[in-house]
Amino acid sequence: MIDLGGKVILVTGASSGIGAVTVKVLTKAGAEVILHYGNNLEKAQTVAESIGSNSIHLLQADLSVENASVKLWRDALSLTGHIDVLINNAGIMRSAGIESELDIWTAAWKNTLQVNLIAVADLCREAIPHFKSRNGGIIINIASRAAFRGDTPEYMHYAASKGGVVALTRSIARGFGSDGILAYTVAPGFVRTEMAEKFIQDYGEDFVTRDIPLGKIAPPEDVANVIAFLASGLAPHATGTTIDINGASYVR
Ligand SMILES: NC(=O)c1ccc[n+]([C@@H]2O[C@H](COP(=O)([O-])OP(=O)(O)OC[C@H]3O[C@@H](n4cnc5c(N)ncnc54)[C@H](O)[C@@H]3O)[C@@H](O)[C@H]2O)c1
Repeated sequence: MIDLGGKVILVTGASSGIGAVTVKVLTKAGAEVILHYGNNLEKAQTVAESIGSNSIHLLQADLSVENASVKLWRDALSLTGHIDVLINNAGIMRSAGIESELDIWTAAWKNTLQVNLIAVADLCREAIPHFKSRNGGIIINIASRAAFRGDTPEYMHYAASKGGVVALTRSIARGFGSDGILAYTVAPGFVRTEMAEKFIQDYGEDFVTRDIPLGKIAPPEDVANVIAFLASGLAPHATGTTIDINGASYVR
């Protein structure tokens, strides 16, 4: 079992899916966790209550709003005094292909880049000086298989945002490793969450699973367990790496 005792970890987008299961795994491993949620307090409370740990703090921020993540970081720090690990997990995947009206296309690109990339960069910008002042810290950014393989035409903006996350994370690993800051990307393929459900409804489960040699969509626990390992700091020289979790559907 990974021991995260004494670590304070901020997880964004943790009121559902991968984030919620990650909070569960991290708190079980002994971490104190700041569970960030977007707009649904009730969902966040249900997740926290179902885990039943008193080491969970809830914090709200709408990451589609410019600079909201800066306030989130500062609110988190004032709650716990320090943060050891930042997990950028919040994300959106909304359909808009080239046949969409220009205003819909533009809104989808802007909104997706804001939530999936700019809010992530803003949080990293806050975390880096804090981690420097503490002689180290860990950043784990959740990207996607789509960053490497590409996505279907109506999700090009999603793939592009996740490609940006990969480049951002690698740059942080290279630029701030000498300050003790470690940065990792986790790149899931399909994971059984609300986000994947919409795609499964549109394309059918067969379309999704036929190129996964493991034959099924990953459970969120697979991702959460990898995140917990990376958060432990047990493999510092793996910094800058991307861990693929896609059942060998896209082996690089
Ligand atoms: N499910 C998959 O198949 C899959 C595959 C690859 C990558 N991912 C990535 O994993 C991460 C988690 O996704 P998930 O599958 O658990 O989906 P999910 O929809 O269950 O979770 C996404 C979370 O992000 C939060 N969020 C979205 N917009 C927000 C906003 N404006 N402000 C604040 N929070 C906001 C949501 O509240 C939610 O808790 C995402 O970054 C996603 O891109 C998921």
